[in-house]
Amino acid sequence: MSARILDGRDIARDIRAETSLRVADLAASAGVVPHLVVILVGENPASRVYVENKARACAQVGIKSTLVRLDVGISAQELICEIERLNRSPDVHGILVQLPLPPHHDIQAVLRTISIHKDVDGFHLYNVGGLVVGKTIFSPCTPYGVMRMLDHAAIPVEGRNVTIVGASNIVGKPMALMMMAREATVSVCHAKTRDLAQYTILADILIVAAGVPKLIGAQMVRTGAAVIDVGINRDPQGKLQGDVDFDAVRTKASCITPVPGGVGPMTVTMLLVNTVSAAERIAA
Ligand code: GUN
Repeated sequence: MSARILDGRDIARDIRAETSLRVADLAASAGVVPHLVVILVGENPASRVYVENKARACAQVGIKSTLVRLDVGISAQELICEIERLNRSPDVHGILVQLPLPPHHDIQAVLRTISIHKDVDGFHLYNVGGLVVGKTIFSPCTPYGVMRMLDHAAIPVEGRNVTIVGASNIVGKPMALMMMAREATVSVCHAKTRDLAQYTILADILIVAAGVPKLIGAQMVRTGAAVIDVGINRDPQGKLQGDVDFDAVRTKASCITPVPGGVGPMTVTMLLVNTVSAAERIAA
């Protein structure tokens, strides 16, 4: 078997085209241009690349974006005041605080300051809790993107065995809740899981977000499984690598996402979708 490749760039292109149309409709019907503000504290080089990618993607679909760069030494109080100012601004529809923050900040306190109506990352406790009861305003972008990829590829979720490797707040845990909401049977594995393969081999859908290059080999994958690789690792030459041994696993899976060009483009795309949704909600 050679797996079908789930091309995140293709799917993202379709969703971005739909998003551009929504932006145009909003301008025509309400005179509103969706506006995302990204707050970057300090000079983390990886974060700078991420925020530049977000700004470029916004521009492509007609979303206005503003980068607020704050000094690495900014106090917790000053950061919170800045977020409160953006919460009050009628011209701002989405607020994103790029993580990680310098260690003197309490990340949960910062995220809790963002208005739940502008929380386009879906990281506020209200939106996290909303996932549990199926009443979230915004879903976190990476798991939301994975869901959209599966739906786009017509891969059914209900009643399937889904194994998630990685239990982070940003990917693994919300992914598990979204899968439960769609009536999948979910196993969540993490760094302390003993005999990882006994869980991965059961999966009809295997989602890997562990941050460990080539953690998943062919012998850990059920024949015909759908394999979604959320990992983004750099090898010593600087080349991007996923958590799945792509060349080995593609001979066993029915479909698989590549790295790069799989889940990555979907994450940024879902941020655009959430930002337009935020503007639509505020304009309604
Ligand atoms: N840092 C790494 N990924 C993310 C993300 O999705 N959102 C934010 N705010 N920070 C991040």
